[in-house]
Amino acid sequence: MFDKLKVEIIGESHSPEISGKVSGIPKGYEIDLEELKAFLKRRASSEFFTTPRHDSDDFAVSGLEDGKTANEAIEFVIKNENVRSKDYDKIKVVPRPSHADYPCYVKYGYIPSGGGKYSGRMTAPLTLIGGVAKQILTANGIDVKARLCEIGGIKLENGALNDEAVEKLKLAQSNGDSLGGKIECEIDGLPIGLGDALFEGLEGKIAANVFAIPAVKGIEFGLGFKISSLFGSEANDGLEIVNGKVRLKSNNAGGINGGMTNGNAVTFKIAMRPTPTISKEQDSVNLLTMQNEKIKGTGRHDVCFVPRAVVVVEAVAALSILDEILKENLWKN
Ligand SMILES: Cc1cc2nc3c(=O)[nH]c(=O)nc-3n(C[C@H](O)[C@H](O)[C@H](O)COP(=O)(O)O)c2cc1C
Repeated sequence: MFDKLKVEIIGESHSPEISGKVSGIPKGYEIDLEELKAFLKRRASSEFFTTPRHDSDDFAVSGLEDGKTANEAIEFVIKNENVRSKDYDKIKVVPRPSHADYPCYVKYGYIPSGGGKYSGRMTAPLTLIGGVAKQILTANGIDVKARLCEIGGIKLENGALNDEAVEKLKLAQSNGDSLGGKIECEIDGLPIGLGDALFEGLEGKIAANVFAIPAVKGIEFGLGFKISSLFGSEANDGLEIVNGKVRLKSNNAGGINGGMTNGNAVTFKIAMRPTPTISKEQDSVNLLTMQNEKIKGTGRHDVCFVPRAVVVVEAVAALSILDEILKENLWKN
């Protein structure tokens, strides 16, 4: 959901290439391509618990003039190098539980190879586009940072895996199973009053865009669902004057009141489901024979892709904030 930016993600998991295109980016900003490469690398699979599908993620970029944003759409093209469509042959008639296979089959008459446009792979170009937005926000003193905060229900300090989480991941791996997790995001340096009432609310914009990331099943701002069990006096963020300035004494609301930023950092958490494709046997159906059939995932899949999605959340949050700033015309350049 964007008001000023136009964001397009083109291609599919197993098409020769995928691309991401963004129009409406403010002009004159220097974009550091090395930084962008490093940003995208955070989404790549790592050695352990994540997919053995290794795409180089080299990208071609167009739409920059002398390294700066200009009056043109910026487009990133990434080749899909490591495609093994035959891993997905069985899936073409036996949908993987909880992937997009079944609704896609009913809607379009086929199950796309590798998850098609529903694949997590599509978040690679999305990350690049969001990386541009993030660099522009950083140049304006706005900091967007996300980190892993939970895996399989186990809380993590400072985004790092602990022994308990590693044990649970190993258990899932040895059982051919998978785990989900949570990611938290903090946005600092925002002006007060960004966003507005009802459908113009900043929470709604961030939430709508975060749900574009495959596997996101929940989002909460500040204390989120927990706030419903508190007394008002516990939940409220009191105000005080410090050095002649208004300050909020806590941040239970996640930095937003009435759909508008309130001077605190905007904080939200997302919940991601476990990887749907697992090698453990599951119940499914054969859509040709119309008989019940068991299925085991044969492709290459993450035991837990949540660590790889952290940077995607940063990217989407940055795009959402940049779009709102442009909509409210806060940078009059
Ligand atoms: C970075 C990333 C990587 C993913 N990798 C996989 C994967 O390897 N196997 C899989 O089954 N799902 C994977 N997914 C999740 C599916 O794309 C997603 O669950 C599916 O499209 C169904 O959408 P839903 O979970 O939002 O309903 C990944 C998601 C992300 C964000």
